[in-house]
Amino acid sequence: MDKLPVIGNPSPTPDVDLGMTPDELEEGIKKLKKERNAVILAHYYQESEIQDLADFVGDSLQLSQAAAKTQADVIAFCGVHFMAETAKILNPTKIVVIPDLEAGCSLADGCPAPVFAKWLEQYPGHKVISYINCSADVKAMSDIICTSSNAVKIVKALGDQKIVFAPDRHLGAFVAKQANRPDIALWQGTCIVHETFSEKRLLGLMAANPDAEVIAHPDCHEGILRHAKHIASTSGLIEYAKKSPAQTFIVATEAGILHKMQQAAPGKKLIPAPPEDESCSCNECPHMRRNTLEKLYLCLRDLKPQVDVPEATRVRALVPIQRMLEMSV
Ligand code: 13P
Repeated sequence: MDKLPVIGNPSPTPDVDLGMTPDELEEGIKKLKKERNAVILAHYYQESEIQDLADFVGDSLQLSQAAAKTQADVIAFCGVHFMAETAKILNPTKIVVIPDLEAGCSLADGCPAPVFAKWLEQYPGHKVISYINCSADVKAMSDIICTSSNAVKIVKALGDQKIVFAPDRHLGAFVAKQANRPDIALWQGTCIVHETFSEKRLLGLMAANPDAEVIAHPDCHEGILRHAKHIASTSGLIEYAKKSPAQTFIVATEAGILHKMQQAAPGKKLIPAPPEDESCSCNECPHMRRNTLEKLYLCLRDLKPQVDVPEATRVRALVPIQRMLEMSV
């Protein structure tokens, strides 16, 4: 299959000004959270002030596990749309809100369900493993969902069954290598953030910091992964930075991770991996950045925008998500 076009940045979103000081905003969010019996779940890629207010911060798998067991009436999901959608699939009777409904994902947007359905026709008898970074409609066509922290384990558990993997071709290639399954058919999607890192500029940084260890998310392309001392999900990278005796790390994933990583590894030097274009902040996900404290306040106050999934799709999408959760205990 030809390489798909990379789905670009979302349109910029105007800042919402509620005329509140940061302290008032924080207090307001805490008060609304109590009144609504809400839980705030946040991904490591969110702005630090959102992470600091969240009840739970984690990677995609940990966030699905937290969503699966919450007793709250309202889930305020500070992440991107597919994450909130997964929480809704697991909690059909709860209200799931997201600060900005347009916080999407290039991987999910680059795998439209009708095109995916057509692509799958080429692979009869294959198990369909889909990265959680996809829409509910694509999940509904999948046998098992995976995240970056359990993808290798899930593929290995399938023995020698024929497999298709979507939508991230870099994660798929990494998994195929780790599981020694070069035959896996890969959908050719990419993440706009992990696609942007420059091998040439990384080599320059490595030369300037010879003691630094490169640590990378498996969504990165091979030009970055080949230099990585450790490749793991966001939670795995934080754990590694904490435990490794190295004092300096070049971190190849979305820059939001640096907040919790620095807290977990105080005193260590964390250098964000460089994007191709020196003048851009391309290592920040523009979708994740759409969520702000102001919009979090508003979504708790107004209980909108809500994330909903049509029931027929939800019921089908739930099956491969539950399989993943069962295989990840
Ligand atoms: P994890 O949360 O599994 O680390 O992956 C984050 C992600 O969405 C990378 O694109």
